Amino acid sequence: MALMLWARADERLARKVADSRLPLRARQLRSSGLHDYDASQTVWLTEAFPVTDNTLGFYNANAEQYAADEGIPNPRLSSFLDRCTPNGKILELGTGGGVDGAAIIERGFDLDATDGSPELAAIASRRIGLTVRTMLFNELDAVDLYDGVYACASLTHAPRSELVPIIGRIHRALNDAGLVWASFKAGAEEGTDALGRYYSYLSKEELMVTWENAGPWRSLEAEIWVGGAYDRKPTTWVAITAAKLDRFGPSSDSYGTI
Ligand SMILES: C[S@@+](CC[C@H](N)C(=O)[O-])C[C@H]1O[C@@H](n2cnc3c(N)ncnc32)[C@H](O)[C@@H]1O
Repeated sequence: MALMLWARADERLARKVADSRLPLRARQLRSSGLHDYDASQTVWLTEAFPVTDNTLGFYNANAEQYAADEGIPNPRLSSFLDRCTPNGKILELGTGGGVDGAAIIERGFDLDATDGSPELAAIASRRIGLTVRTMLFNELDAVDLYDGVYACASLTHAPRSELVPIIGRIHRALNDAGLVWASFKAGAEEGTDALGRYYSYLSKEELMVTWENAGPWRSLEAEIWVGGAYDRKPTTWVAITAAKLDRFGPSSDSYGTI
């Protein structure tokens, strides 16, 4: 109740907190002058001031510029494709301007490219030469369809609370030989960057636990490196590579480890 009263008294600040999507922690609220923070009120505040995530708004509004900025394909794409069934069906989540998608096709795979931004999907469609579907991560409902799922720097935009269900959808979409590769910005917080894009920053350990919770997987690997990003900031990236262990398939004993 205290938080609600405070929220009514200072709507502007409360909306800023809700919009930031940062976890409402005592230390943040202390710095806002609220000392009697009660964690049980968090949901209530979020409901009172619905979160506005402008990530897709950013990509739609800056689609031409973003796509023009994409350079060469991700250097880690090739080793992922080496491990996928040759000429298999690959789902790309968050294809962006389509540079990696074009490389996937060039390697002889059957690409199903998707993006949540209709503007980027249109640009990528022209670059790749096939229709890039507009689809949000949480709209993926394929079952047993793909040999590979590739998500470069895209799932990192999904809210922490939605990651396990989204990864569960990826698990369901993969066939028994399926492999997924997904990269994330590393860190410990969540919030929006200077461009207004929302990020879940996760450590390697937290990512491994998140993926384990969405499995089961036959194998789960993590790789860390420091690289660049669109905002030109040095960025620590963590990539997960996971091989599906079918929930309803044979027991893990009959699977080798890749
Ligand atoms: C950082 S860009 C990465 C683009 C491309 N994969 C690359 O590596 O250059 C993130 C992409 O994820 C897409 N995206 C963000 N949130 C999404 C969502 N909820 N559902 C589907 N795509 C989303 C964006 O539109 C954008 O194309």
